[in-house]
Amino acid sequence: MVWPVTIAVVGTGLRGYTFAGYAQRFPDRVRAVAVADPRVERRDVLADRLGVTADHRFVDWRELAARPPLADAVVVTTPDHEHVGPARRFAELGYHVLLEKPIAPTAAECVALVEAVEATGVIFAVCHVLRYTAYTDAVRQAVRDGRIGRLVGVAHLEPVGWWHFAHSYVRGNWRRSQESGPSLLTKCCHDLDWLRYLVGQPPVRVSSVGGLHHFTSANRPDGAADRCLDCAVESRCPYSAVRLYLGCLGDPRRERWPLSVVTTDLTEYGVRLALREGPYGRCVYACDNNVADHQVVTVEFAGGVTATLTMSAFTPMGRRRTLVMGYPRLSGRRRRAGHGHPFRQREGKQDYGCRGRGGPGRWPRRRRLRRYGRVHRGRGDPGPVIGTVRTTRVAGRSPHGVRRRTQPAHRPCRTRRAGGVERVRDGSRQRDQVDRAVGRIGATNRHARS
Ligand SMILES: NC(=O)c1ccc[n+]([C@@H]2O[C@H](COP(=O)([O-])OP(=O)(O)OC[C@H]3O[C@@H](n4cnc5c(N)ncnc54)[C@H](O)[C@@H]3O)[C@@H](O)[C@H]2O)c1
Repeated sequence: MVWPVTIAVVGTGLRGYTFAGYAQRFPDRVRAVAVADPRVERRDVLADRLGVTADHRFVDWRELAARPPLADAVVVTTPDHEHVGPARRFAELGYHVLLEKPIAPTAAECVALVEAVEATGVIFAVCHVLRYTAYTDAVRQAVRDGRIGRLVGVAHLEPVGWWHFAHSYVRGNWRRSQESGPSLLTKCCHDLDWLRYLVGQPPVRVSSVGGLHHFTSANRPDGAADRCLDCAVESRCPYSAVRLYLGCLGDPRRERWPLSVVTTDLTEYGVRLALREGPYGRCVYACDNNVADHQVVTVEFAGGVTATLTMSAFTPMGRRRTLVMGYPRLSGRRRRAGHGHPFRQREGKQDYGCRGRGGPGRWPRRRRLRRYGRVHRGRGDPGPVIGTVRTTRVAGRSPHGVRRRTQPAHRPCRTRRAGGVERVRDGSRQRDQVDRAVGRIGATNRHARS
């Protein structure tokens, strides 16, 4: 009997709960048999849900590692700087390892860990969850099928979003490069991995520019206090913690994230207390953050394909967008001088945090947002444009700004429909990730035990 695969969950924060949720939903595939976390309350809530016995609850991964192996695999969801130690030790103990990204804060540690784990022969998977989305399958398939023509370039946008950035990278756990890593690593290692995966070639040249533009004391408005609860200009500030976090109360989805990161007491009193005492009540212009809020990377891959990645805090929090550019093979009936396909990730994020007044410059109103910033194919597409694509313009307007009522917001294209897969609901990413990891582990077990 192979299934269910047994796992130990190391780190019972948000991600630990995500994986444990999978075990709850699919007990025939995965059974969590041990948990480790110094935050005893969180750990015990999860352990109770999963039916983990008292003698299999640990306050540190080292305690668990001191025991003979208790499970087939371990899921390591500790903070970024606490990845290498447990991943290496559990691999040495014979556990298969599912490790949260990023592998490690430095390249040298990544290489050392991979070499150490390879020597043990266990399965080692990193949660680059983007690889396992329906979105990725759709884009890769389109490239492979030649619908793009010969691939020349990829332009990829990770719109982190203004309030999400303030939450995680200004006030939150990923605000300081010394403690977690640069934002390009902690946020966009997914995207860099994804570009490499899409292009299918190793990178040969990489350059990057970016920096911390906005969330500094130099931009602090007159009259601003160190905490939003005391601030005279709070009601006018788009980054008001009071509005953001109190506004989550009553909405189960937003209570789960971002509010549960701020406090476990999901009452007005609890939230106010957390804003009074904790890191999430601080003025975004008076934090100790130092990671970049806007960064651009260019990559040249072997074979000459290029890619750009833009990570930005100055967007609505949206799904990733990708423009894949290629030129045609001049055969068959469809002769195009150059064309590109826009892709939008449909799964995952929504800018529900910007309900109400909107954010900086008052632009992030959801209905208006839907109409901005998308990449469209020009009128008469495929267009006679060599080596580039006619792209970005506002849906519903002509290039001269005259509103044309009859024009659809989107010209339907096969690719978008092919992303019927795009209807996959939230959580599918994790499910897919775990499915595949578990599938691999299951297969190995089968082999080992047969
Ligand atoms: N794959 C993704 O899409 C994705 C998304 C978000 C976060 N992450 C990554 O997942 C990891 C966890 O993120 P999170 O949001 O769950 O963070 P979190 O802070 O909510 O959870 C981390 C947990 O690890 C626990 N921990 C700390 N030291 C420990 C130790 N020595 N032994 C056992 N447990 C320990 C903490 O108490 C905490 O409960 C991070 O590396 C993050 O970058 C990945």
